[in-house]
Amino acid sequence: MAAIDTSQRVQLLRPTAVNSILAEVKQLQSQGRKLISLMRGEPDFRTPPHIVEAAERALRNGRTGYPDNRGEPALREAVAEKLLRDNGLGYDPGREILITTGATFGIHAAFTALLNPGDEVILPEPVYDAYHSPVLLAGGAVRAVAARIHKGRFTLDAAAIDAACTERTRVLLLNTPWNPTGTVFTASELAAIGEIVTRRNLVLVADEIYEAITYGAPHISPAALSPELRARTVVLNSFSKTYAMTGWRIGYCAAPAEVIQAMFLVLQQSSRGPATFVQDAGVAALRGPRDCVAAMREEYARRRRLVCERLTGLAGCRVLAPEGGFFAMADVTPQGQTSNEVRRRLLHEHGVVVIHGSAYGAAGENTLRISFAGGGETLAQGLERLRGAFEAIR
Ligand SMILES: Cc1ncc(COP(=O)(O)O)c(C=O)c1O
Repeated sequence: MAAIDTSQRVQLLRPTAVNSILAEVKQLQSQGRKLISLMRGEPDFRTPPHIVEAAERALRNGRTGYPDNRGEPALREAVAEKLLRDNGLGYDPGREILITTGATFGIHAAFTALLNPGDEVILPEPVYDAYHSPVLLAGGAVRAVAARIHKGRFTLDAAAIDAACTERTRVLLLNTPWNPTGTVFTASELAAIGEIVTRRNLVLVADEIYEAITYGAPHISPAALSPELRARTVVLNSFSKTYAMTGWRIGYCAAPAEVIQAMFLVLQQSSRGPATFVQDAGVAALRGPRDCVAAMREEYARRRRLVCERLTGLAGCRVLAPEGGFFAMADVTPQGQTSNEVRRRLLHEHGVVVIHGSAYGAAGENTLRISFAGGGETLAQGLERLRGAFEAIR
């Protein structure tokens, strides 16, 4: 029988690193291997009870009809309050905020709304590997700017960004705190990047979904730097990481009204937004007690310390203490193997799952991403296996 040809467009899409490695992991598990995973960016916390209760209440109250496609008005109001309270940003909930099915949909809607065929998006590398495909799907092209490790942290050189821009460059994407590197951009770094965005008439897409998880360096919303930058920025955020709500699929965007209107049209022809009762839970998350967020941050800080402690003093593995997020990058330069080869050895010979840095772009070569989104025995044993592996390799 003839196979059905799928579209050329869909052939541009590629699976995320997590999904590719999961296939390898499942294969080994089916052979009876006991693996420990320090791979996924999924908090192991339960969603805080007051948020769950708000969803239950909403369900019982019949909040099961179609949502307002821009987002339920109460949630857009709550998002506007949050952006003012936490980020110093004023947005009109009527025209400048859109509720999305996770940040994932915000990324897709932003690129679809902004890019014409051939428009370029500057992506710092290494970077979260689910930006490329939506750029390509929207007809855009990626221009990577390599970050480098300087004084124990990944940094971006503003001059390199400037040099990478061409007449076709339309968007610069920043993720702060930055997955996988753990860098939290400082005010002066953001100012230098913001200057390029303004001078070159670009749009800044700012993915801030790890904003609540920082370890000293404060999160700064790039749009808060100046009215000029705010007028050129699309803020992307989500409940997934801050409130341990990955499975609820809810996020939000803020941008000037014309961009939100365009993103809204994209949303209306596809997801039509998160479920109504899920949006009610979102209101409870944003307006409810903040101590649950602080408690999760403290636990991540404890895990971060553990990762750094357990992986010090190893030849061939230097851990970079993250400033934000729940991933640590390990610099494994002296191994003399590619990061994917090191990852495969760790998986096959030592039973521990991490992600090779090159999965996040060529500039991630020679590094590994270690997740501490999960803690407890899994983290402790995973770190033991990593330690043992690096001692054995030495
Ligand atoms: C940088 C970044 N942006 C977006 C997402 C997707 O988030 P959501 O669950 O809100 O779709 C992730 C998930 O890991 C991420 O790391």
